[in-house]
Amino acid sequence: MSNSGEYPKRFETVLRLKDGTEIFVRPLKTEDRDKLYQMYTALSKETNYARFLIRKPITRWIVEKWTDINYRDKMALIATIKENGEEKIIADSRFYTDKETGEAEIAIVVLDTWQNKGIGTKLLQYTIKVARKMGIKALYAYISPENKRIIHVTKKLGFKAKWISESIEYKIELPLKQNKTK
Ligand SMILES: CC(C)(COP(=O)(O)OP(=O)(O)OC[C@H]1O[C@@H](n2cnc3c(N)ncnc32)[C@H](O)[C@@H]1OP(=O)(O)O)[C@@H](O)C(=O)NCCC(=O)NCCS
Repeated sequence: MSNSGEYPKRFETVLRLKDGTEIFVRPLKTEDRDKLYQMYTALSKETNYARFLIRKPITRWIVEKWTDINYRDKMALIATIKENGEEKIIADSRFYTDKETGEAEIAIVVLDTWQNKGIGTKLLQYTIKVARKMGIKALYAYISPENKRIIHVTKKLGFKAKWISESIEYKIELPLKQNKTK
């Protein structure tokens, strides 16, 4: 599989955490598939469940599929660090747009050892910025009501949560103002 769109270098950025650590964020590339697989298979069971709401391990095939990003309706931003001179993925934030509604389903995960350091908030904030620049009308996600951390983080960023009783999940939503220049 290869990424069908042109790599949007303009979406590369550096995020600075409260403790001064700098994290490089960039759109995902086809050649990242092994590193992405390493990140997803290193997640704890709890993190894996919080992200996918199912208790199944991630397969290489699924990760291959997720590496197939076109930078238009399928977008993924990864946070990376250097470990022993090698680039390592520590977080993945992505959204898939419904072409009919212009709204996109978003999902984010931070590697366990890097959680609670501000990366999720900063990466989500940046993903919202990118989605807005790409003309996405709204972002939404389905989450477990027990996932207090993502509820806290998304509330801070302006998402509203509503209870989906049929599926015992929360739907969180953020309408985006269409201002591509900001
Ligand atoms: C949810 C997730 C993306 C957040 O990323 P993170 O880097 O850990 O989050 P941050 O460090 O930026 O922020 C965590 C915030 O939650 C707060 N928090 C932590 N545990 C909490 C809890 N049990 N209840 C309420 N708030 C909590 C922290 O105090 C912090 O808030 P603050 O910045 O106002 O002090 C990450 O924890 C993760 O990958 N979780 C598993 C996957 C997942 O749930 N994905 C979301 C569904 S798609």
